[in-house]
Amino acid sequence: MSVTLQGRSLLTWLDYSGEEIRYLLDLSKQVKAESKNAKTPQRFIGKTIALLFEKRSTRTRCAFETAFGEEGGHPVFLSTADIQLGAKESIEDTARVLGRMFSAIQFRGFKQETVETLAKYSGVPVYNGLTDQFHPTQALADIMTLEESLGPSKGKTLCFVGDGRNNVARSLMVICAKLGVHFTVITPQELNPDAALQACCAPLAAASGAKIAITADTAAVAGADAIYTDVWTSMGEEDKKEERKRLLSPYQVNQALMDKTGRTDSIFLHCLPAVKGEEVTAGVIDGPQSRAWDEAENRKHTIKAIMLATLNNA
Ligand code: CP
Ligand code: NVA
Repeated sequence: MSVTLQGRSLLTWLDYSGEEIRYLLDLSKQVKAESKNAKTPQRFIGKTIALLFEKRSTRTRCAFETAFGEEGGHPVFLSTADIQLGAKESIEDTARVLGRMFSAIQFRGFKQETVETLAKYSGVPVYNGLTDQFHPTQALADIMTLEESLGPSKGKTLCFVGDGRNNVARSLMVICAKLGVHFTVITPQELNPDAALQACCAPLAAASGAKIAITADTAAVAGADAIYTDVWTSMGEEDKKEERKRLLSPYQVNQALMDKTGRTDSIFLHCLPAVKGEEVTAGVIDGPQSRAWDEAENRKHTIKAIMLATLNNA
């Protein structure tokens, strides 16, 4: 079966099949290899993308701007401090207008519902650059990075240690369930991923062969191929900072926790930005097992692949 993603939005990996995700991973690797060539192809000439941001960003914004711009496309950064979105104008109406002017839209912000509404009413591909619920473009770069270090991801074990209910952990759970990657969330019970998402992922995991587990016990990292963490306090949850510190201090990824894998070849992943000394020590994130910087670079290659597939039928 050939894969065609022309015209599709990416709101959550729940909407994509394992085969389609596999296709995007392979295309990302091809895009990365091409990026080493002296001449950059010009595949987005005449195209425009609106980059809507309610929350801050370094990697996601820069990945979209550079990936699209260097191939001749015109990215337009729109912070919600500057435009009418949801303030004087409904999301539906903004979507309708942007859809008349742009080839595609990226949204980063609070509600998943907003990115869904943009996709419903704009008539152009919409990419979720992070919401409170999901961070799908991140998860694609994470799996790509894992495969670069360890080979095919199917059957590998990825352990997420930290805030198990956040957008990054939730997206990893979905992509792992689709691709057959074993995924363990190690988190205090108070921060377990929600039951609805677990129920959604269970049949997907059964079909792909992935084992999904949730535990409060850090001993569960034993044998893991990769350990992943993210900030204890996500954007928009700043009022929970002290509570999170109290709950998550025993879950810091330090060398002692890395050593609990019982392996010296397990890798460390982090979506960044990192708060060194909280969720991860400087020794681990800046050390030999870390792939966090490759992972950041891969944001650009994966985002370019997503845009090529959905805008150019690549
Ligand atoms: N990982 C990530 O999404 O980084 P930014 O918040 O800097 O975009
Ligand atoms: N969970 C983090 C991810 C940042 C890329 C947040 O939402 O702030």
